[in-house]
Amino acid sequence: MEKVYEIGHRRFVLDEDKAEAAYEAKRVINGRKSMTFNLLPLKYAWAYDLYRDMKANHWEPEDVQMQKDIELWRSTNVLSDTERWIIMMGIGYFSAAEGIVGDNVQHVVRELVTAPELKLVLGRHAHEENIHADSLLYMISSLGINPHECEAMFEDIPTIVKKNEFVTRTSNALRRDLDLTLPENKRLLARNIFVFGQCMEGTQFYGLFGMILSLYRQNKFPGIGTMFRYTLRDESNHIKVFRNLFMDLVDENPEIWTSDFREELVDLMKEAVALEKEFIRDCLPIAAVGLTADEFERYIDYIADQRLISVGLPPLNPQIKCPLPWLAEMMDMKKEQNFFEGTVTDYKKRSSLVETHDDDL
Ligand SMILES: [Fe+2]
Ligand SMILES: [Fe+2]
Repeated sequence: MEKVYEIGHRRFVLDEDKAEAAYEAKRVINGRKSMTFNLLPLKYAWAYDLYRDMKANHWEPEDVQMQKDIELWRSTNVLSDTERWIIMMGIGYFSAAEGIVGDNVQHVVRELVTAPELKLVLGRHAHEENIHADSLLYMISSLGINPHECEAMFEDIPTIVKKNEFVTRTSNALRRDLDLTLPENKRLLARNIFVFGQCMEGTQFYGLFGMILSLYRQNKFPGIGTMFRYTLRDESNHIKVFRNLFMDLVDENPEIWTSDFREELVDLMKEAVALEKEFIRDCLPIAAVGLTADEFERYIDYIADQRLISVGLPPLNPQIKCPLPWLAEMMDMKKEQNFFEGTVTDYKKRSSLVETHDDDL
């Protein structure tokens, strides 16, 4: 028997028995591995929806003007040493971090999941990390920073080395043929998805995001600030992708959700927060950009709790309130309807020329 399946305005007629069998065979892990892409019928609709959202937010670094940033960087008496240092740390840390995240998405998580719509959204996720890495190259070339200086930060600054080691150890553990029917291996993957999505992209990116946006708020580095805001918008989707992936993985494999495992995840978040606080002290050795390291540390406590709650884990500081409400508002870009007018809307328009009736998806 034939049955109509709809995705937004698109209609597909499928053989009902075959469609049901394909749906049943879809799993986050250990599902049917299909040589064809086999997206229909969708089981993880959130993955397809997020893929569409991510694609609609497409941006290209070179479309952002850097002239004012260049003038400010070359000026001799406008910037404080700490403000310069924050920009260097931002470029140095993220140059390494974007590559680490993209590599984990592409070569670990996307390799291990089996449902095609999950592979689809993870492919876009990896591509966005490439855009972010490219935006950092654009900043380096615009400001005339020596690329080796950025590379050296990655190897020489202990708080960056420690943050990177914290995430790569959960990535390296999965780079071999794993029997994902074993609960301990399922936990390895769940831990990886939690660490990358909630601890790294969800928490450890936010100290520098906050500092750079604080400069941007004072009209310093408008080009870099704009690129970081685009990046932040992408990151909020990445956090959602990994959050949903984590929840569905646990849902389909409830045996991994033991109290020991939950405790282990909370401990990992504690470690992530401690590393981020050390890193913030390195970025902000003295009060600058109108803010102190203490405020950013409290902000990290607040963000970490949001991430824990979002995956059903208990917060570390249940009473904490957001210490920097302006930052929370600036980060929640959905409130700013006009933010993506201009370049990003143009991309959206261009793609809608091809896909004329998909805008409401
Ligand atoms: Fe990124
Ligand atoms: Fe990301």
